[in-house]
Amino acid sequence: MILFSFDQYASLSGHLRMLPFLQEGVFEVKRYPNGEMHIALSTSVVNQTCVILGGIAPPDEHCMAFMLLAHTLKKEGARSIIAVIPYLAYSRHDKKKPGESLAVAWIGALAKASGIDEVLTVDLHSERDSELFPIPLHSLSPIPLFAERVAVLGLTSAVLVAPDSGAIPRCEALRREARIVSGISTSTTYFMKRRTEYGVEHGGPIGPVGARVLVVDDILDTGETLQLACEKLQAHGAEEIYIMVTHGLFTGDGWRSLWEYGVKGIMCTDSVPRPVAFEDARITILSVGPLVSDALYIRQ
Ligand code: R5P
Repeated sequence: MILFSFDQYASLSGHLRMLPFLQEGVFEVKRYPNGEMHIALSTSVVNQTCVILGGIAPPDEHCMAFMLLAHTLKKEGARSIIAVIPYLAYSRHDKKKPGESLAVAWIGALAKASGIDEVLTVDLHSERDSELFPIPLHSLSPIPLFAERVAVLGLTSAVLVAPDSGAIPRCEALRREARIVSGISTSTTYFMKRRTEYGVEHGGPIGPVGARVLVVDDILDTGETLQLACEKLQAHGAEEIYIMVTHGLFTGDGWRSLWEYGVKGIMCTDSVPRPVAFEDARITILSVGPLVSDALYIRQ
């Protein structure tokens, strides 16, 4: 198995490089003088299983480079290509609406046309995504990583909260796993969320709210969904709020107001690489390295 890793995932690829069955492949993304992209490969891949680790957006040129690399590997004789895309950008674009794009289906079509045989990602946004993909799309669960943190932080008595109905299965999975690790045995409180042209609308929390609350979701993007939830949880008596999200996009600065609503800590994974590390002890980054390593181990 040969690993081709894009620079933005240097830290995660460092973890994978320790796998004895994985060699490192060398390639360069270059530009012609007029700006068009091309790939220069320095590793022979004939009859090999190749793994590409990277992101596909933003910026969109990441997608272009990823797909062009896959196409080049197949052209050069690779037997199969496993794409490891820890955060599958466009996965939220999964609803069929008249007159609107269906970007996740388009990404799937591009991946297939580029010679990718299988995509591994972490905590896929929805089952619709897999249904819209023309090739196998496997989702690695971050729940074991979160369950360990529940134990470390002693959150066994926290009330689990889903900020929208889509997050309920994630909370339930964490409750099951964390019960094994740490004995947590609370019920899931949830919100009904609606996106309107003016932003996110939330009703009140459905279920009990305790003094310690653990909110679980797949994505923290602008933070608006979590902000609305935390504001209401605080109004219902929550004093200490912890957040566990798989993909920390941290777009803009709005999410910083979470600290004003009783949030004591945010935990997310390294599925989205950070150009600069957070200098904030309240934010903990958990590596998905062990999840990806295990997935590759069984595919070698
Ligand atoms: C939506 O369905 C997702 O699960 C997240 O709740 C959402 O994408 C978070 O976005 P934001 O942080 O911008 O509210």
